[in-house]
Amino acid sequence: MISRKKLIAGNWKMNKTSADAVALVSDLVAAIGKQNDVEVVVCPPFTALEAVGKGLEGSTVKLGAQNMHPDASGAFTGEIAPPMLRAIFATHVILGHSERRSYFAESDEFINQKVLSALKNQLRPILCVGETLAEREGGSTLKVVQTQTERGLEGVSKEQAAGIVIAYEPVWAIGTGKVATTEQAQEVHAFIRGLLTKLFTEAVAQKVRILYGGSMKPANAAELLAQKDIDGGLIGGASLEARSFADLVNAAIAAK
Ligand code: PGA
Repeated sequence: MISRKKLIAGNWKMNKTSADAVALVSDLVAAIGKQNDVEVVVCPPFTALEAVGKGLEGSTVKLGAQNMHPDASGAFTGEIAPPMLRAIFATHVILGHSERRSYFAESDEFINQKVLSALKNQLRPILCVGETLAEREGGSTLKVVQTQTERGLEGVSKEQAAGIVIAYEPVWAIGTGKVATTEQAQEVHAFIRGLLTKLFTEAVAQKVRILYGGSMKPANAAELLAQKDIDGGLIGGASLEARSFADLVNAAIAAK
């Protein structure tokens, strides 16, 4: 079996001014040092991306955006294009986060356009999928995750698929302090990997990193990261402080 490098990504959402973001990343880099065992990505808001990117020079931490528009340029007031992200050395982009899906009405089709565009522009997509509480209680978790994954990845080639990252984020666990049990998370992660085998190949499915997201913190990370199909975390709240972010990176190093 291929061993996948674990990935810890911090999703800072709509938090931190540019100055605060630079201070955080400087503390983070100091706390984790120059390690290569685990891939670490920070995703600050757009206004802080460039400054944070400069702050990361010489470190192994990578830069990601929280969203982007699929087009390369044009009349899309308020949007950011993939080449703009590439120009400031972003390498990753979170797409289809549940907050984008619910508050900004992003559809699977639109998210799919973004995934294809990210790949075309050499940005690594972190495609988010996950069910709401009502969907889980109604027994449709796997169906929802299947639809979001299949639609999100439509038109992605086998060659491209291996580089994609998927984040399973049960909506009811995001920012609520209610973390999925390791069994609940592992079940969905294994299901997603099975789906990737059907959509692409077993070899591709074994290469794709599947992150867990939703109230992941140092206290519950070790148990989650020890699961066979959990390859890292997409972290909101606990990535806003250098100490807890670094503890999560260390938990991933210990679990590798
Ligand atoms: P949380 O957010 O860690 O604050 O629950 C995770 C996310 O939304 O990516």
